[in-house]
Amino acid sequence: MDPRPLKILLVASEAVPFAKTGGLADVAGGLPRELARLGHSVRLVIPRYGSIDGSTAGFKDWIRLAVPTATGRTNVTIEQGQLADSGVQILAVRHDPYFDREGLYQESGVDYPDNLERFAFFCRAVLELLPALRKVSGWTPDLLHAHDWQTALSLVYLKTLYARSLLMKRIGTLFTVHNMGYQGLFPAVEYPKTGLGAELFTVKTLEFHGSLNLLKGGLVFADFLNTVSPTYSREIQSPEFGFGLDGVVRERRDRLVGIVNGIDTEVWDPATDQHVASRYSVSDLAGKRTCKTELERELRLPVRDVPLLAVVSRFTQQKGLDLVAELLPELMELDLQVALLGTGDPYYEALFRSLQVRYPEKIGLRIGFDDVLAHRIEAGGDMFLMPSRYEPCGLSQLYSLRYGTVPIVRRTGGLADTVVPYAPRAVREGRATGFVFSQATPESLLSVVLLALRVYADRAEWNSLVRAGMSTDVSWARPARAYVELYRAVLDSRA
Ligand code: ADP
Ligand code: GLC
Repeated sequence: MDPRPLKILLVASEAVPFAKTGGLADVAGGLPRELARLGHSVRLVIPRYGSIDGSTAGFKDWIRLAVPTATGRTNVTIEQGQLADSGVQILAVRHDPYFDREGLYQESGVDYPDNLERFAFFCRAVLELLPALRKVSGWTPDLLHAHDWQTALSLVYLKTLYARSLLMKRIGTLFTVHNMGYQGLFPAVEYPKTGLGAELFTVKTLEFHGSLNLLKGGLVFADFLNTVSPTYSREIQSPEFGFGLDGVVRERRDRLVGIVNGIDTEVWDPATDQHVASRYSVSDLAGKRTCKTELERELRLPVRDVPLLAVVSRFTQQKGLDLVAELLPELMELDLQVALLGTGDPYYEALFRSLQVRYPEKIGLRIGFDDVLAHRIEAGGDMFLMPSRYEPCGLSQLYSLRYGTVPIVRRTGGLADTVVPYAPRAVREGRATGFVFSQATPESLLSVVLLALRVYADRAEWNSLVRAGMSTDVSWARPARAYVELYRAVLDSRA
């Protein structure tokens, strides 16, 4: 138990187990759970997407609010539920015209044209919720913790439209940037939809080369900022990784921290995972073989005792899949198999489909978002490929460590912070957990894959990597404590 429990309101546009497009959801579901375990009082606000099964989530109507918008007031229902087996209360903002849709942010790769209205509305509802929380539950947060561009406006509203309220004045704010590549950019003509005054549309605040930039609002208005790894917190201060906002980040670097994500070690546990063919652990790896065989069957690959390289990824430029695609024909000369799961850019979907048709005996492919298969691939693979061009943290390599699927990663962001590179000495000391390469070129990726294949052939050495990875603490225990420390720094800075 923490001596001085905090009251924390997290705001996110996706959270497991309710809605997920990527790692943000894992963090927004996992962090509050651990904070609650540490004795803090935590609530999480999310949009009530139509895809959420309200009955399993236990959502019930809680209150109605009239949320001010640029054109008047809109009534919403706030539903209340519980994050299973935790003390975390979920508050879901229900407005079906905005959130009862096929996707979260887009359909068939095309963003919803009204994303600004949707997320400005969501953020405004968060602010309107605060007095209701105090009145109905006697609960006011010490901190508002927002994530990524979708929720950045909640911090802007708190410091501007709502700044005079005594209730709001007491609340400290933290903005977590999960990915500088997604900024919530909108044409300037849409700015009035935020409901903010024209004085906030300047280069010092929300304007970015003539457009509206929501991420920038979060970066400018939050008391403190953090990213999801120390290396990424340094990288985003440079033009290469800052996506045009590196100057804004540099100005606030004394308020910027990097905290590596944890993972939910109950959901992702090879010793208890109900999705996989056989359970296994670091002390008994036999089941991993069965997982591999079953995975080969599921992906219609011949069952063979050859190295199985795995990829589970959003298909975007960020993930370096062009390197994988360029490398595949060369890899196909070798005696190995590849298991690929992903969805996103239609270009990569088509490319991997055509490669699979060319090498059906060697490439197992599933296009789509499939959580169960993601577990099976983590369990059945031998190596996990993550050649990202940039990676704020990355969760898949953490799952891979835990499942004894040795990660092969590029030295960037959280990948650099979480994988200990293979080197004879690091292996002898039982520290090495994976393979790391630096240059984002197919040649560098090929040479590290060839190295991994050589080491794989030496079972004793390989098993040392597997064991070191599986023994690494990738839980939320440490990161959640780091967040609590950061929350306290936020509050101290305002005292
Ligand atoms: P990002 O958030 O940038 O996509 P992360 O590594 O942080 O990258 O998190 C990705 C998360 O999404 C992991 O939990 C991974 O298993 C999951 N994921 C990505 N693509 C798929 C997919 N096609 N099917 C199922 N899960 C996926
Ligand atoms: C983003 C990043 C990823 C990170 C995730 C959760 O999606 O791309 O690296 O792990 O957020 O923080």
